[in-house]
Amino acid sequence: MSLDGYLDTASPGRLRLSNEADFDRVDAERAACDAILVGAATLRNDNPRLLVRSPQRRTDRVARGLPPSPTKVTVTTSADLDPASEFFTAGDGAKLVYCPTGAVATACSQLDRVATVVDGGQAVGMGAVLEDLHARGVRRLMVEGGSSVLTQLLSADLVDELQLVVAPFFVGDSGAPRFVGDGEFPWVPGRRATLAEVRQIGDVALLRYALSARFGDH
Ligand SMILES: NC(=O)c1ccc[n+]([C@@H]2O[C@H](COP(=O)([O-])OP(=O)(O)OC[C@H]3O[C@@H](n4cnc5c(N)ncnc54)[C@H](OP(=O)(O)O)[C@@H]3O)[C@@H](O)[C@H]2O)c1
Repeated sequence: MSLDGYLDTASPGRLRLSNEADFDRVDAERAACDAILVGAATLRNDNPRLLVRSPQRRTDRVARGLPPSPTKVTVTTSADLDPASEFFTAGDGAKLVYCPTGAVATACSQLDRVATVVDGGQAVGMGAVLEDLHARGVRRLMVEGGSSVLTQLLSADLVDELQLVVAPFFVGDSGAPRFVGDGEFPWVPGRRATLAEVRQIGDVALLRYALSARFGDH
C-alpha cells in the first residue's frame, strides 16, 4: 500500500507500489503456496498473470511434485470475467471461480473451457471458499487482494499472516481503493495484533503480522 494506505489509484490500470526486490520476494511467497486468490475487480483492473516468475522456483516446485505455479482462485457475483484475460490464459494450472448459485449458469457459459466454476451457494462466504479449497488439497493460500476480499477475510478472522508492504509515496485520492474498507476487525485497541517482523527492502518496508496460532506453520 501507499504511505496513505491505498492499494491503487482511482484510474484504470495497475499501480506499481513495490520495487523489483520486493516483487521477487512476493514471487518466492507465491512459489511457497498451493493457491492464490484475487477478487474479480482485481482481475478486471490489473489483468494479473499470477504465475511464479522465477524459472528456478518453478523447477523446484515441479521437483517437489507440484505444478509450476499455484492454483488460481477468484470470487465473483457478477460473473463478468473475460475468458481471454491472463488469469485464465496464462499457465496450465487449475483455475477456480467461486460464484453464487444464481450466477453459475452465466459463469459456466463464459468460462467453462478455461476454468472450473464452483457453486458457492446463495451468497459466497469466504469461510466456505476456504473449506472448499481445503477439500481440494489447498493448505496454504496466498491472497493478493483487492480491498474487498482482504476486508472480508481479515474481518472474519480467517487470516494467519499479514504481509504489509509500505511504498514511499502518497496516492492522496479517497476515490482510490484502500488496503481495507470499513469493517469490524478482530484487532482493536484492546486486542493488538502481533508484529512478527519489520524488514527494509530497498525503499519499501515489509511488516509481517502473526494473526493466528497457525502463523509460521509451513
Ligand atoms: N496494491 C496491491 O497489492 C493490490 C493487490 C490487488 C488489488 N489491488 C487493487 O485493488 C483494486 C480492487 O479492489 P476491490 O476492493 O475493488 O476489488 P477486489 O477485492 O479485487 O474484487 C471485488 C470483487 O470480487 C468479487 N467478490 C468479492 N467478494 C465476493 C464474495 N464474497 N462473493 C462473490 N464475489 C465476491 C466481486 O466481483 P463482481 O464485481 O464480479 O461481482 C467484487 O466486486 C484494484 O484497483 C486493484 O488494482 C491492489
